[in-house]
Amino acid sequence: MTDSLEAMTEAAAPWDIAEYERLARIATAAVARFVDESQRAGAPVGAPPPLPELIETLRLRELVRGERLDGDRFEPWLDDVLAHSVRLHHPHQIAHQVSNPDVPSAISDLVQGAINQPMSIYEMGPAAHAMERVVVEWMCEKVGWPAGSGGVLTHGGSLANLTVLLAARAVAAPDAWVDGVDGTLAVLAPPGSHYSVKRSVAMLGLGERAVVDLEVDEYERIVPEALGDALERCQAEGRRPMALVAAAGATSTGLHDDLEAIGEFCREHGIWFHVDAAHGATALLSPGHRHLLKGIELGDSVIWDTHKMMRTPALVAAVLLRDEHRLEAAFRQKAAYLIYEDAEEESPSLLERQVECTKAALGMRIFMNLAFRGEDGIGRYVAEQYDKTARFHDLIAARPGFECLSRPESNILCFRYGRDPDQQVRLRERLLAEERFHLSSTEVNGERWLRITVTAPATNEETIAGLIDAIEELAAA
Ligand SMILES: Cc1ncc(COP(=O)(O)O)c(C=O)c1O
Repeated sequence: MTDSLEAMTEAAAPWDIAEYERLARIATAAVARFVDESQRAGAPVGAPPPLPELIETLRLRELVRGERLDGDRFEPWLDDVLAHSVRLHHPHQIAHQVSNPDVPSAISDLVQGAINQPMSIYEMGPAAHAMERVVVEWMCEKVGWPAGSGGVLTHGGSLANLTVLLAARAVAAPDAWVDGVDGTLAVLAPPGSHYSVKRSVAMLGLGERAVVDLEVDEYERIVPEALGDALERCQAEGRRPMALVAAAGATSTGLHDDLEAIGEFCREHGIWFHVDAAHGATALLSPGHRHLLKGIELGDSVIWDTHKMMRTPALVAAVLLRDEHRLEAAFRQKAAYLIYEDAEEESPSLLERQVECTKAALGMRIFMNLAFRGEDGIGRYVAEQYDKTARFHDLIAARPGFECLSRPESNILCFRYGRDPDQQVRLRERLLAEERFHLSSTEVNGERWLRITVTAPATNEETIAGLIDAIEELAAA
């Protein structure tokens, strides 16, 4: 038998259960060592080498083209992969809004990776489908909506924003699915809204110009008193607002728009109110922080990413609508081989609510964290990260030469050392290159800031004191 024939036979064979058990043991042990080392800061936070170098180190091209892994080679190779992965559990990893996955959710992916339940249609993944239904129902309750609300889980906040805006378009222009759009629709949004909002508007055929910028304050929050002007501007251009988008946890700053005032304005003017709570919605589970989302229930739609603060692996986002029928009206297609109207009761389907056909068992990730930790456990996680970030603000703001944009309202904090924008960029690059700290940077109202997102439970005051010292030392050098 030639090598390639042997490989084909292996790939075509039924599972070798002993192989599965062996590889799973190696993998879980390696991941356990990696997370343990990361959260103890037993290794530097790390920095990516140049891409071509990493491709070589991991022998990716060779492995794709014929070289093989086996039980013996897998362990050292996986250790190498982990060594070149971002250490999300490391206290010095304070860069991005990526969740610090919790154990139950991580195990969900281990299970689903093996049993593969694409569950858009009930009969294709009954348990996983049931979990999504129950989790979405629970999320609508948390938003504060009555019966009649509902939604769907989708692969990420960007797709969730697109799905919501499609539903809003179906209300504003019911014929758009068949006839396209005529250039009279508009979406009102602050300039700092997540880029997926503008991208969605363009993808829906409205053209980027259909996004009407809302006036914002020095922290890029929507100024509710100026909404009337924006509406007039929109109408003067001959456009009708299809939706207004506000942020509950803005991407750059982590600050919250005044949902109550904005929601009331939208109600008064009959405008679809969309709350992009991708980052902030999990704070609904923390009694001390849920006030930040006051007014969220006035939304016609909400998106909620659980791969941000609910500690699930990427990607899981909920698309939630106060009136769930509006979501079904968004997609008007039928696929004869999958959607049988009269079979709906036997095998319920989510296809009429989502972009995806095949979809991962997203609900189980959320379900597992809830079932093991409870709402209160997750709420405590959020409270700890948010409260810690407020204390980090005090530490940083008290140090001469440092300035914070504002008191944080979440686990995102913007600060700078001096005011030179290039210096902020250089500091970030040096801290990363020296594998000391991984932080991000952003622009707010045209000014450059350093930005931290605190997701690892291991990040503490000592981390931030070290960060401040490191910045002073680098700036002095
Ligand atoms: C407010 C907000 N909305 C939407 C998104 C997009 O989410 P995703 O990265 O899951 O597509 C983000 C991501 O950072 C975000 O911060």
